[in-house]
Amino acid sequence: MKFLTFIASLVCVLGYEVLSIYVDWGNPYDMGRLPVNDLTITETIDKSPLHTTAHYPNQSGEYPVVFFIGGMNGYVLSEMYTDVLRMVAAHGFIVFGVDYKYPALNDGENIFKPILKQDLKPYFNEIDFLKTFMVNKSPAKPVWNKLALMCHSSGCDCTLRMLRMNTTMFTSTVFIEPVSFDAFEKVPNPVPALMYGTELSEKGLTKCCLPGTDFRQFYKIWKCPRLALEVADFGHCDILNREFWGVCTHICTKSNETRIDEYHKFIQGAMSSFVISTLQMRQDAITYLSDTTKIPVKLLEHQTDLNCTLEKKSDQLF
Ligand SMILES: *[C@@H]1O[C@H](CO)[C@@H](O)[C@H](O)[C@H]1NC(C)=O
Ligand SMILES: *[C@@H]1O[C@H](CO)[C@@H](O)[C@H](O)[C@H]1NC(C)=O
Ligand SMILES: *[C@@H]1O[C@H](CO)[C@@H](O)[C@H](O)[C@H]1NC(C)=O
Ligand SMILES: *[C@@H]1O[C@H](CO)[C@@H](O)[C@H](O)[C@H]1NC(C)=O
Repeated sequence: MKFLTFIASLVCVLGYEVLSIYVDWGNPYDMGRLPVNDLTITETIDKSPLHTTAHYPNQSGEYPVVFFIGGMNGYVLSEMYTDVLRMVAAHGFIVFGVDYKYPALNDGENIFKPILKQDLKPYFNEIDFLKTFMVNKSPAKPVWNKLALMCHSSGCDCTLRMLRMNTTMFTSTVFIEPVSFDAFEKVPNPVPALMYGTELSEKGLTKCCLPGTDFRQFYKIWKCPRLALEVADFGHCDILNREFWGVCTHICTKSNETRIDEYHKFIQGAMSSFVISTLQMRQDAITYLSDTTKIPVKLLEHQTDLNCTLEKKSDQLF
């Protein structure tokens, strides 16, 4: 694949720096091998712009960074996603789950009002803050020029707009069951992206993803390299920690509860495969998403556009 050749040449150019970054050589759908530790970073004690939880390998080394924003434009707390976020960290990433408002909205505050006039500056401020704050905070050293955005649901409205605001800061991005009303115009210089959907998020009485603003639409406004997939039978709540699944399925269409652990193992592998290939620069890791025979769940849709021209990609990555 030309995409892979390109990554290979990038490794040569940046050889010294890239080689020092941890690389997971296992199957991403298996659990990562690193022990993971957590650190809560607060607005009050640490003077952090936003409440954040860090999940990091408890082993000295250099690791790329993942910045995660949960549903409802970051109002769904990242603490509800810790099971899967920890599993991603175990593949060799420092994962920050960031809450737009912690612990929640004030009583009586209408969720839609703040979202409509949401200021994304605090997320950028948080990244700046963490760059300084994390120095010597853990045995894992963050490599800030290998930074991915990840999101769930309308947290992807935030990350999409952040990617429009600054194209150079981020290396790649993962949109999990995205929803955004900003997904109509093309993104001029997009970073490599994974667009991911589930069958049940657009089925039933309460659709938690909307056709026309979903992963297919994100794929349409993107450019090479991009990859879209949709899995059968699972739904919008399945990525959450088990204890929040029940609450969420009062709103979004329910899936089969007996399969949550299986789903977590799969989704952490899909998220990790993409960042192992784009941030850790392990060339073959993309095949865990591009080769359908390697994907351990039933797919309904699979689109890839990874064979870009070199010229196009240079624009994207530099
Ligand atoms: C991408 O290119 C490689 C070789 O350069 C080829 O084997 C592969 O089939 C191509 N994939 C697609 C989807 O075109
Ligand atoms: C992290 O590693 C240190 C040193 O090996 C160990 O003492 C500590 O218990 C570990 N913490 C966790 C949460 O694994
Ligand atoms: C984007 O981020 C980079 C790296 O942090 C920074 O140097 C640059 O000034 C930012 N660009 C804009 C338009 O904010
Ligand atoms: C739920 O999944 C389990 C295990 O795969 C299966 O045995 C069961 O029949 C499923 N239940 C429904 C209602 O589909």
